[in-house]
Amino acid sequence: MNDRLIIFDTTLRDGEQSPGASMTKDEKVRIAKQLERMRVDIIEAGFPAASNGDFDAVQAVAREVKDSTVCGLARAVERDIDRAAEAIKPAARGRIHTFIATSPIHMQNKLRMTPEQVLERAVWAVKRARQYTDDVEFSPEDAGRSEADFLCRVLEAVIAAGAGTVNIPDTVGYNLPHQFGGLIKTLRERIPNSNKAIFSVHCHNDLGLAVANSLSAVLNGARQVECTINGLGERAGNAALEEIVMTVRTRRDLFTCDTRIDTTQIVPASRLVSNITGFPVQPNKAIVGANAFAHESGIHQDGVIKKRETYEIMRAEDVGWTANRMVLGKHSGRNAFKQRLKEIGIEFKTEQELNSAFERFKDLADKKHEIFDEDLQALVTEENIEQENEHYRLVSLKVCSQTGETPFANVTVAVNGSEKQGSAPGGGPVDASFRAIDSIVGSGGQLLLYSVSNITTGTDSQGEVTVRLEKGGRIVNGHGADTDIVIASAKAYVNALNKLVVPVERTHPQVGTPI
Ligand code: KIV
Ligand code: ZN
Repeated sequence: MNDRLIIFDTTLRDGEQSPGASMTKDEKVRIAKQLERMRVDIIEAGFPAASNGDFDAVQAVAREVKDSTVCGLARAVERDIDRAAEAIKPAARGRIHTFIATSPIHMQNKLRMTPEQVLERAVWAVKRARQYTDDVEFSPEDAGRSEADFLCRVLEAVIAAGAGTVNIPDTVGYNLPHQFGGLIKTLRERIPNSNKAIFSVHCHNDLGLAVANSLSAVLNGARQVECTINGLGERAGNAALEEIVMTVRTRRDLFTCDTRIDTTQIVPASRLVSNITGFPVQPNKAIVGANAFAHESGIHQDGVIKKRETYEIMRAEDVGWTANRMVLGKHSGRNAFKQRLKEIGIEFKTEQELNSAFERFKDLADKKHEIFDEDLQALVTEENIEQENEHYRLVSLKVCSQTGETPFANVTVAVNGSEKQGSAPGGGPVDASFRAIDSIVGSGGQLLLYSVSNITTGTDSQGEVTVRLEKGGRIVNGHGADTDIVIASAKAYVNALNKLVVPVERTHPQVGTPI
């Protein structure tokens, strides 16, 4: 076991805590299936006590995933642990991850508990979770700012109580690599029963050190890393799975352990998460950024052609980069469409869903000759969006944009099925479209972010638009894709408005005092 590094993916839990990144049950299942295909060891599917919707999503992942362990998060309180246990029940292998804060600042100000009360509660929580499953993980939240002596006492007690994994979170991303690695070493050396548990780490990226801190911990004996696809997560995010996995694999000379990840699934996973959450991947992002393997300068190209290793330490194909391959076209039939979707992990529950997706595919193939896997993913995301909550539906949009003239948009939106018209001028065609939609909807939402990226290459590529809106402290992201970026923008805006109208009551696992 010592040479195996366990990959615990928390994209569906900590990743989802990122403002605007919330996912539907079906989206979570799609991502979970991709993580399973990638051979992730443990998938943290969510925080079941947050809401009934979160519970259902964790349960659905537990039902669908067979090869990875499915984990539910629980604060150290009875209801959370019982809900997590219930949600993971259908899983082939299920884990409960329970936590309580151990730093002075969290204990005093958030929990208002003494260290002794925290220690007692931690042991109680692990014992309760063990009544449901043998696979229990415990985290002392904000361990990165906790006192080492107290951490040793808590961890020794929870291991004795039955925690098989103890996870050390740098919750606020405060540590430096040598310090965090040193903490893991100290804990493993000083805790008498440390050999009875796997040491895990969970690092946040507030200072851009999440991956470095996690790797330093691995060099000091941690054998589980908690991470997310594309580094998604609260604030500046969590450690990026792809960077952890590829560093350990590329620097085998330094690491005495390796993961069992199928690295060729990394880029597809990155695209899927970006597509579903609408969080674009920056072009210069390591491993999964569009430029990560691009060689621009002539000197570099020359070097790479003569001998690849001159400027490449990894091979693009090993992480799943393939040149966009045309997979389908205008003349592809329904069976070819269904088969290709199956190959990329998408299956429809009903014939009706398949038929409607096929209709969309035919429309797209009329506008765009070559259809790539990325187009298919976007198409299915669009399909899910339409089925989600159809309070508002974009029926039609006409925009006039001409040099020297003020752009003007006319739009028809169905509000609960009844069609309404609106029009407005704007600074540009997108601005005019949003104003025209607002003239019907009157949302009062504030636009925080608007971004467009191309799904594949070429001027006939679909544009993928993300719109982030804020209203009354709530942040939602809307997505839309189309070969016409103004229409994609309007779709994304309507999708965000649909999310704003649905009231969501969700408990955040790390805010407030549950005890
Ligand atoms: O960052 C953190 O401390 C967490 C815990 C719940 C593990 O996400
Ligand atoms: Zn976290």
